[in-house]
Amino acid sequence: MNYPATRNRRLRQSNAIRALSREYSLSPDDFIVPVFIEEGKNQKNEIASMPGYYRYSLDTLKTEINLINELGLKSVLLFVKVPDHKKDNFGKEALNSDGLMQQSIKMIKDMAPELCVMTDVAMDPYSEFGHDGLVENKQIVNDPSNKILANMALSHAQAGADFVAPSDMMDGRVKMIREKLEVNNFHNTGILAYSAKYASCFYGPFRDALDSAPGFGDKKTYQMDPANSREAVKEAQMDELEGADILMVKPAGPYLDIINKVKENTQLPIAAYQVSGEYAMIKAAAKQGWLNEKNAMLESVLGIKRAGADMIASYFAKDIVKEIS
Ligand code: PBG
Repeated sequence: MNYPATRNRRLRQSNAIRALSREYSLSPDDFIVPVFIEEGKNQKNEIASMPGYYRYSLDTLKTEINLINELGLKSVLLFVKVPDHKKDNFGKEALNSDGLMQQSIKMIKDMAPELCVMTDVAMDPYSEFGHDGLVENKQIVNDPSNKILANMALSHAQAGADFVAPSDMMDGRVKMIREKLEVNNFHNTGILAYSAKYASCFYGPFRDALDSAPGFGDKKTYQMDPANSREAVKEAQMDELEGADILMVKPAGPYLDIINKVKENTQLPIAAYQVSGEYAMIKAAAKQGWLNEKNAMLESVLGIKRAGADMIASYFAKDIVKEIS
């Protein structure tokens, strides 16, 4: 490839040739919309650290689901905010067949059966300690947590969830969940595993949204060390063997190398989660007039796709679809 025979600018000189030679583009098919739900009636509360993003009560959620559907978005990932008096060490409320998560799943599948409903499986929103597993002597104990997580996944499947998404990072939880679903005849309920989930500061705004910050310590004994790369492949390969259908990397933007590396080491689809802090950073800079929000949003997500993500969970999903359609 020699200058002047090769001049790269020839393919950049007009919108037409740029479009023809473009490698990646964004589509509504790419996105999973995270949805925050709370108790009560007629609630639509903006999350302070996530401007433009809201928690809905079941009634106002209907309008939001219709909008998501009309925009051509095809999948939602549900999270619920649990009031303090329903939190305990065992995540008992998570297994309530009439709990907020279970009611939400039923309502959404009722009104929009085609929408792929995915649910977060982890104990933190239900835990009085804000940890993803069971706490004993200030330790997050692995195997007893897996039993609860498997029952939680089953409860979501019974309510009608299409995919369960374990985000807890306990060892062996995908295996336990798959076995529990199979034994109960939920052969077609899929598992989107948060395989390479890092102990990241970028989850801060999300923990505000759900009031789920850890009450003591941090999540470094179960979420991954941001300094590690090969370990992500190990996590992903184990989840694949245990029965995961989709492997997720999270956060996305600061971990593009991980998305790429995991993709090269599996035949499963790869999901990436552009997390709350990634959203908040762009929103904050745009508010100051320091970044163009629209362009920053599109570029950040395109980078995630280019790194190898087959699907992207993003708080920008609706805005992106409005922009590209
Ligand atoms: C719960 C969970 C978290 C996120 C998704 N599921 C928070 C955490 O692990 O502390 C973060 C999502 C985001 O920041 O957007 N286990």
